[in-house]
Amino acid sequence: MTTLAATAAQLVGVGKGILAADESIGTMNSRLEGVGVACSAAHRGAYRALLLTTPGLSDGVSGIIYCDETLRQSLPDGRTFPTATLQCGLIPGIKVDTGAKALAGADGETVTEGLDGLRERLAEYAALGARFAKWRAVIRIDESTPSHRAIRANAHALARYAALCQEAGIVPIVEPEVLMDGVHTLGRCAIVTSVVLLEVFGELHDAGMELDGIVLKPNMVLPGKDCMDAASTDTIATTTVHTLRTVVPAEVAGIAFLSGGQGEVLATERLAAMQSLDAPWPMTFSFGRALVDPALAAWHGDPARVPDGQAALAQRVRCNSAALSGVYSPMLERESVSR
Ligand code: G3H
Repeated sequence: MTTLAATAAQLVGVGKGILAADESIGTMNSRLEGVGVACSAAHRGAYRALLLTTPGLSDGVSGIIYCDETLRQSLPDGRTFPTATLQCGLIPGIKVDTGAKALAGADGETVTEGLDGLRERLAEYAALGARFAKWRAVIRIDESTPSHRAIRANAHALARYAALCQEAGIVPIVEPEVLMDGVHTLGRCAIVTSVVLLEVFGELHDAGMELDGIVLKPNMVLPGKDCMDAASTDTIATTTVHTLRTVVPAEVAGIAFLSGGQGEVLATERLAAMQSLDAPWPMTFSFGRALVDPALAAWHGDPARVPDGQAALAQRVRCNSAALSGVYSPMLERESVSR
């Protein structure tokens, strides 16, 4: 097994998922403001330190994705985040894209940027301790989108990013997110997700990627947030797994779903429902909001409430890890968030 494949396998290891704590400075600031915390590098660092030092985190989490700022910050005890992450038994990762920018001539659609200087940045991130990376492409469904042009531009950028990562010895998390915003049906999401993934895997193939050294981070297949037709947990789970099985090669190291704005319990229930379905790769979580929102709300910037924030994160990790192991039940959600 290559080093890339070994790292990728560790990231999707049994009973574990990936914590996405890589919000950009702007996004993190609005989340802090949302719970009444002043925006500052110190508060952003304190919040990430709360997440990382949650007791027992490595029981259900394999790695944490940071943004550039956090990777360079230190904890109050002086350890850098990458060093402390490794010492906590977790793998440090880094978000390397620079965001979704308007795609010229494609009304309202975006292409994710960040390829300029990426080879040099990856070398620096590797030296700082990052062992995996993330790049998120954003695909929006409405009456006239996504266009093939936007899908192709994003898939091509994802493959160029992935190739640069593997060249640098860093495992790429390939994240083509089909947004749940909109009124589209589950069926439309399934079609768009398949088309996007087909294009992405075509590009990854052309770029000569080692598929066992890649983790795919897709959306679950869901009806749009404003769709009138609800779908059951079982329908979502079977449609998601069927869609992925049709287009994602068996060699891929694993699937780590994003939460995409689903409520935290729903995301966990859907993840749990997928585990009994036949699939050639492990399926785990790489949630952001669905893992950390309760922790942020419980902490809301008060140093005395760090243990409350950590207990809230630990509870979500326990539930999601139970989902992966086939022992999740609604009872677990009712267990008190004990400090
Ligand atoms: O890029 C998005 C994050 O990595 C996942 O965040 O689970 O809140 O959608 P989310």
